[in-house]
Amino acid sequence: MDKDILDKFSRINWEFTEENTQYLTHSFHQYPARFIPQIPKVLIENLTKKGDTILDPFCGCGTTLVECQINERNAIGIDLNPLACLISKVKTTPLDEQKLVVFWKSLKEEINKEIMKSKNSSLDFFLNQKTDYDNRNKISLEIILPNRRKSAKFTEDITNEILIIKDKINDIPDQEFRDFLNIGLSATIYSCFDSRSRKFDFWRTFERRIERMSNLMIGYNLQLTKTSYKPKVKIFNDDARRYPEEISRESVDLVITSPTYVNVFDYYRIHIYNLIFLELDYENFRQKEMGAHRRNKENRFRLLTEYLADMYRAIQEINKATKTNGHICIVAGDSCIEFERIHTHKHFITLGKSLGLRHLKTITRNIDPGSKYANRAIGNIEKEHILIFKKTDNRIDLTKNLIISKINSILTKYEEHIKTSKGTCIRENAKLTKERLLLNQEKIRKAIDKIPLDIIK
Ligand SMILES: C[S@@+](CC[C@H](N)C(=O)[O-])C[C@H]1O[C@@H](n2cnc3c(N)ncnc32)[C@H](O)[C@@H]1O
Repeated sequence: MDKDILDKFSRINWEFTEENTQYLTHSFHQYPARFIPQIPKVLIENLTKKGDTILDPFCGCGTTLVECQINERNAIGIDLNPLACLISKVKTTPLDEQKLVVFWKSLKEEINKEIMKSKNSSLDFFLNQKTDYDNRNKISLEIILPNRRKSAKFTEDITNEILIIKDKINDIPDQEFRDFLNIGLSATIYSCFDSRSRKFDFWRTFERRIERMSNLMIGYNLQLTKTSYKPKVKIFNDDARRYPEEISRESVDLVITSPTYVNVFDYYRIHIYNLIFLELDYENFRQKEMGAHRRNKENRFRLLTEYLADMYRAIQEINKATKTNGHICIVAGDSCIEFERIHTHKHFITLGKSLGLRHLKTITRNIDPGSKYANRAIGNIEKEHILIFKKTDNRIDLTKNLIISKINSILTKYEEHIKTSKGTCIRENAKLTKERLLLNQEKIRKAIDKIPLDIIK
């Protein structure tokens, strides 16, 4: 059976360049490094049957979960980012058309009235509103916001409009409709960052977005009425390195996931404004986000060892939750650390095999050249890899010694390579000196020495 499917996978063109990647609820909210829905769709269709259960332990904005729901499979999603969980929830929760049309119409009129009134009011009005909000959240927006370019987008008018919208949303008794509107608000905040216009019309953009989301949700409802099996979707705001008890051993038929990359993104920093305005509790996420660019700045090779140990734990959890003979599909991209290319997908194969997984296939595809990740000035990464494993009954326990010895051998290979390397991942405009390359040797040695300390959790 595996052979036929793997042959079929070899014949598929995984680029899907001509296909719509934003259908139904997929376009509700922007999310860095999400995968296109065609990837989970093809894997779900070929590796499971109706009623099976699929897990995505780094579910991000819920791409896998949406595909499960419309293809009649049960879905479990985990993500440490509370915003990711809320987006996933809203994208997979059908909403009554009456709420979308009637409730929205009256809410829209109320917000509009309030905004018109405040346009004619004084700066004091805004400051009072904002102070109220800051007190309620025990924060000061000026102090906590980390990115000056983004902070500058919050002009008085825009902050004022956000606070008016937010207060009106908070008054809505219906939780599902409130969540839906909050995701519309969060997506509008995102659009505001991306906008080049000096006069971003926040309220009108929010209004248009809610109306577009409503139409898409009506289409989603319709799609779900066509299915005979009604799948369950469970979402946990939790850590992929240690699952909540509700996810029992050997309960999952297929895993599809794209773990966070090492040293590329910093989801906490990217989403801090959205998290604050949505009043989501981000402290756990701030402390435990894996691979984040903001960590171990003084020696990124230490970030790599920490990340590999985290991924060991995450793959072991996946392994435990999957049924014997079930499949595990991991989408991974390379990264750059101190001018060296990190072949993350190869390391995942090493980690997976050392835990008893059988590696069946690697599919390589191009990354959207418009994504930040592919940008020459940042990562210059052009490809990503879909790794397909099979869970065997030969499960190997993860011990501290196993983690140390594998990570040691991965890092020692980099140490050897680095002695003669002129840099294998040099960003555009980077000024690379001989001294800088020599410094890499020192850093990698330190990282190796500190492995036992850095991998402790
Ligand atoms: C590449 S994104 C996944 C995108 C997803 N495939 C989609 O289509 O939206 C990686 C995710 O890992 C999450 N993450 C980071 N550290 C985590 C941890 N310790 N446990 C669970 N999720 C984590 C991030 O919040 C981010 O949403």
